[in-house]
Amino acid sequence: MAEVTPRVSVPPRRISILGATGSVGASTLDLIAHHRSRDSGCFEIEALTAQSRVAELAGLAMRFRPRLAVIGDPSRYGELKAALAGTGIETAAGAMAVEEAALRPADWIMAAIVGTAGLRPAMAALRPGVTLALANKECLVSAGPLFMARVAEAGVRLLPVDSEHNAIFQVFEPANRAAIDRLILTASGGPFRTWTREQMRAATPEQAVAHPRWSMGMKISVDSATLMNKGLELIEAHYLFDMPPSQLDIVVHPQSIVHSLVSYKDGSVLAQMASPDMRTPIAYALGYPQRIEAPAPRLDLIAMGALTFEKADLARFPCLALAEASLKEGGIAPTVLTAANEIAVAAFLKRRLGFLDISHVVEEVMTRCVSGRPLTLTTIEDVLSLDREARSCAEESAKALVS
Ligand SMILES: NC(=O)c1ccc[n+]([C@@H]2O[C@H](COP(=O)([O-])OP(=O)(O)OC[C@H]3O[C@@H](n4cnc5c(N)ncnc54)[C@H](OP(=O)(O)O)[C@@H]3O)[C@@H](O)[C@H]2O)c1
Repeated sequence: MAEVTPRVSVPPRRISILGATGSVGASTLDLIAHHRSRDSGCFEIEALTAQSRVAELAGLAMRFRPRLAVIGDPSRYGELKAALAGTGIETAAGAMAVEEAALRPADWIMAAIVGTAGLRPAMAALRPGVTLALANKECLVSAGPLFMARVAEAGVRLLPVDSEHNAIFQVFEPANRAAIDRLILTASGGPFRTWTREQMRAATPEQAVAHPRWSMGMKISVDSATLMNKGLELIEAHYLFDMPPSQLDIVVHPQSIVHSLVSYKDGSVLAQMASPDMRTPIAYALGYPQRIEAPAPRLDLIAMGALTFEKADLARFPCLALAEASLKEGGIAPTVLTAANEIAVAAFLKRRLGFLDISHVVEEVMTRCVSGRPLTLTTIEDVLSLDREARSCAEESAKALVS
């Protein structure tokens, strides 16, 4: 008799996706479509949000039928309203409306807006009964202590989606926290892993976003090329797992199969492995505490052959050194770091700055805005005000570099 493999049923969930038109948003919706094709009632969608890609948002709304579709840029509201007229889907526009979308009744919310723009919506999502799947790392880098305090206060289930943190979450034994030696985050090394500084000087945005392993949004792809992404992830891990900087390590692993590791005091090192496909960590968060199917390629270790590991080169990738320094400094340093980096990366993508200028801008802003300033960030308003200051400082620094 043929054996019947029981399929794990997916828990019914009401879902909102903040940043639905992005790379993580697309992977999340792809998973939802996959499960809905087998069980149409498994996921209801409450809200989908985007910033400016109104045609993409309208297309997703027509396909996935959320109750609400929100476009952040208010000048695109007319287009969204017209595209969804007669569908019964509510529409709204503006930054406040994105935040309000996060307040709508949902039991699983994906925070996948890019940059510190995702901070307020992600904070709004932190309320009792919600599971927050957190992809947006910048909000944790910018406002880690406030964000984690709110998570604890609201009793929110916070599930990391970034593949490294998701990997650590899967092998982190809370009952054995005291027996953890270190968390080891893996880095692919990005497209310029073997390039010299001289080669990087002429790197174009197209080369920087051509990641060898992952398909991602533009900003995180550039961050992967500078290794700032790994630095942001170190800070993210510090807040998520409450680990001191001295117990956080990075190792370059070009194949991107081992997504991160936890090293225990008995010598055991637990790793999570998978093909580099964001649908795997997202499926983990979507099904949690069950494991549900993801239509991601299965890992074939024999076909992989060798898995290799190397040390990160801080001299060739100064953004990583800057992020590590900001983690050690703490206080306002990570908030300034990520704000300056966003401006520098945007200027690079618009070809206003060269690739190597990114770290120069960040370093200069860190010196101007952080040094000797014992500011305490006690509210989100404090964070956002410092974020604005660091951005304007970074704009000045970028202008000065090109003039
Ligand atoms: N991509 C990955 O594989 C990956 C992996 C791990 C972690 N992450 C993290 O996940 C986050 C999203 O990354 P991504 O690669 O998916 O980015 P992405 O492809 O650039 O998508 C970003 C999403 O955010 C929306 N958005 C942009 N600016 C906004 C604003 N000011 N207000 C509201 N919404 C805004 C975009 O809308 P429009 O499309 O209309 O612009 C889009 O829906 C980042 O923090 C990234 O570091 C990503």
